[in-house]
Amino acid sequence: MKITLSFSTPSELETESLVAVALDHADKTSNGKEPAASNKIEKPQLKLASGDAAVQSVAADLLGSGEVTGRPFETNLLHKPVGLKAKRLLLISGGAAKKFTSYDLRRIAGAAVRTLKARGIRSFAFIAPPSIPAEEAVRAIVEGALVGNFDPDYYRSDRKDQKIDALTIVASGNSDKAALEKAANEALIIGESQNFTRDLVNEPANRMTPTILAERASKMCQEVGLKCEVYGADKIKELKMGAFWGVAQGSDEPPALIVMRYEPAGAPEKPVLGLVGKGITFDTGGISIKPADNMEKMKYDMAGGATMIGVMRAIALLKPKVKVIGIVCATENMPSGKAQKPGDVQIAMSGKSIEIINTDAEGRLVLADGLFYARQLGCTHLVDAATLTGAVVVALGYANAGVFANDDAIYERFHKANEEAGEKMWRLPLDDEYKDNIKSSIADIVNSGGRWGGAINAAMFLKEFAEDTPWIHLDIAGTAWTEEQKPWIAKGPSGIALRSLVEFVQSFAN
Ligand code: BES
Ligand code: MN
Ligand code: ZN
Repeated sequence: MKITLSFSTPSELETESLVAVALDHADKTSNGKEPAASNKIEKPQLKLASGDAAVQSVAADLLGSGEVTGRPFETNLLHKPVGLKAKRLLLISGGAAKKFTSYDLRRIAGAAVRTLKARGIRSFAFIAPPSIPAEEAVRAIVEGALVGNFDPDYYRSDRKDQKIDALTIVASGNSDKAALEKAANEALIIGESQNFTRDLVNEPANRMTPTILAERASKMCQEVGLKCEVYGADKIKELKMGAFWGVAQGSDEPPALIVMRYEPAGAPEKPVLGLVGKGITFDTGGISIKPADNMEKMKYDMAGGATMIGVMRAIALLKPKVKVIGIVCATENMPSGKAQKPGDVQIAMSGKSIEIINTDAEGRLVLADGLFYARQLGCTHLVDAATLTGAVVVALGYANAGVFANDDAIYERFHKANEEAGEKMWRLPLDDEYKDNIKSSIADIVNSGGRWGGAINAAMFLKEFAEDTPWIHLDIAGTAWTEEQKPWIAKGPSGIALRSLVEFVQSFAN
């Protein structure tokens, strides 16, 4: 999508469609506490978020008619709006003016894209709502628009391939133009990287084997100037990654250990950030096989790895002065005559022995070696992302990803980045009490701590391998895949966590 900034008067803009956000200015509370006059619900007072009188006036009758509720994502399209040079005016409701933030704006921009592209429109101009600081608004609109432009129906013969090619953002004439250009360019890099990740996650397992994932990663690295090494089974065994190999040994598809390095000139020796992703290109459960229902979804079990590959792409293009190493442990988890069995003991690269209770708890095995390897490569701070547990979905549903940290300072830094990126995540505990759940009678630890607190048990397991290195663990099992389409996003891979991670990495360079 081509992004252009415009500082002209919206009504003067020639475009396929002008888009304005309608906000409800009705004061729903009388004194900020009590509901207004209890038995009558106040009518919405809808106004467009634009300072242009011509735009306001062409929409005034419709907005005042009582036909428009003002509920978020409601759309109304006017053709040949009188007094505007635009061919159409799309009004899209953003809810209460008082509560409207860049988080909402991001979604509204996505919804505008999805509404217009479904009508075969290829370009439009979006009026940045003046109530949100201009840079923040530009970022949100660009990111939201790119997220909305993605559709997963690649293999449908009737794929319409409708997308928006060009977006103009109309900002106020007295903004700092250079700052807005920079914001727009950065947001474009981030949005495109998020869609790059979603493309990888979207591919079915027969078209996204560990080998193919590695090829896609190295191709990307070459394009953006990153170093990339891909190792196979020999190296995994040579490094004594017994936990990773324990999973990989059951598959006929060769595993891949993908190492991407971003080492910009002028970056200090430290910190070195290690981004470790779970890259299970298909999770059958192994010998502890999963039921058939919904097993097809386990093609997205490499979403954590794909996220890290997308983050490395964004970082390479944004060029913050901080060293970053991205590591993806990619393999299938298959049952076979060569597969590991419940009761087997594997020795991880760190030397810790692991009793395999459930071969379906494979993500933590590959990450154990990935995290330890990152520390060996000199990483001073670690983040992992993984579709790790069904239990995190039980705990947090689809709205929030689970965050874990072994250090409050790194958590605070991540949390700030997370809020700025407008993604929802919720911290879960890692108290010592949970350690009992992963005790083994034959080895140092078990790979499955049972059902209760399942997401925490998995995180406790990973913590054994992060040890005292500051570390964040993101369990994205519930958020990496959008179950139902929403006005702002298609059903399918979400690319969630990428924006927070990019923001987090950049925070080390500021
Ligand atoms: N990949 C799954 C977790 C998952 C479940 C991701 C649902 C997305 C949606 C993971 O490898 C797994 O199977 N975890 C087990 C762990 C258990 C055996 C301790 C789980 O959550 O049931
Ligand atoms: Mn599994
Ligand atoms: Zn898995």
